Amino acid sequence: MKKLLKKLLVAAVLFGFSHAVHAAEKQYVVGMSQCNLGEPWRVQMNTDIKNAAEKHPNIKMIFKDAQNDSLKQRAQIEEFVSSKVDLIIVSPKEAAPLTPPVADAYKKGIPVIVLDRRVLGSDYTSFIGADNKKIGRAAGKWVVSKLGGKGDLVELKGLMTSTPGQDRDSGFREGIKGSNVKVVFDADMKWLEPNARKEMESALATHPKIDLVYGHNDPGAHGAYLAAKAAGREKEMLFIGIDALPHEGQAYVKQGILAASFEYPTGGREAIDMALDIFAGKQVPKEVTLESHVFTKDNVDSGGEWLK
Ligand code: FRU
Repeated sequence: MKKLLKKLLVAAVLFGFSHAVHAAEKQYVVGMSQCNLGEPWRVQMNTDIKNAAEKHPNIKMIFKDAQNDSLKQRAQIEEFVSSKVDLIIVSPKEAAPLTPPVADAYKKGIPVIVLDRRVLGSDYTSFIGADNKKIGRAAGKWVVSKLGGKGDLVELKGLMTSTPGQDRDSGFREGIKGSNVKVVFDADMKWLEPNARKEMESALATHPKIDLVYGHNDPGAHGAYLAAKAAGREKEMLFIGIDALPHEGQAYVKQGILAASFEYPTGGREAIDMALDIFAGKQVPKEVTLESHVFTKDNVDSGGEWLK
């Protein structure tokens, strides 16, 4: 009898041990669909995700690049669902076309973290991103103060079917409201530097006086700068942008190309932290708002200033 008890005890301990090992080894597959990798900011987002995920050997990342094609990105989400990944991270190109596949994945019980650009409705697990309206408003107020309340502006917008483009525009318009700062030329450069350069050539051709260019991202502001430089007019105006990557926007501020760059954090690390919480069965917030810095010549060397 004693022997049997001993055997049972050993078996129970072994079972418990193997169970614990098994639990510790449980692997999670995370599918990440990035809308494109043609821009430094998106490469940085993937790097942030990769670096954070690598600290957790139980996470296996699968990265897909939608190459700026919403249809391709829809298909990627669908593939993640049919291959039964444990969680999806998506940084959507556009809100409307990505809404149905995200909602479908979510309704099938796969947690979906939406990063930086939004989808429509609320069928996703959580949205992580900075407050684009607040950044736009801060940029508008900054411009009003920098130009002493009046001036003629060019606004080069991000893709207007994506939510950051819409919010950076409406926030900015709120920020300049009540002043004599006027947007005299605006165009959708779809986040891309070559488009911004072309649009700026049109602005320069039709407007003899431009005091400032507001680019919805730093590549856009830089494209505008290159066009103005080619026309010999870059010293007549200021350029501001958004993103403030150390090796892009912050570097342009240091070089005197941009007068200001507003930070747009990628949220990559935060997405992995949240994925771990979800795997641990914790409740996560529906929305996480990331804070931003503003960088100007005066503060760039000391790490910028928080946006209030
Ligand atoms: C990169 C990018 C960034 C911008 C973000 C907005 O694709 O254009 O420059 O801040 O997307 O979603």
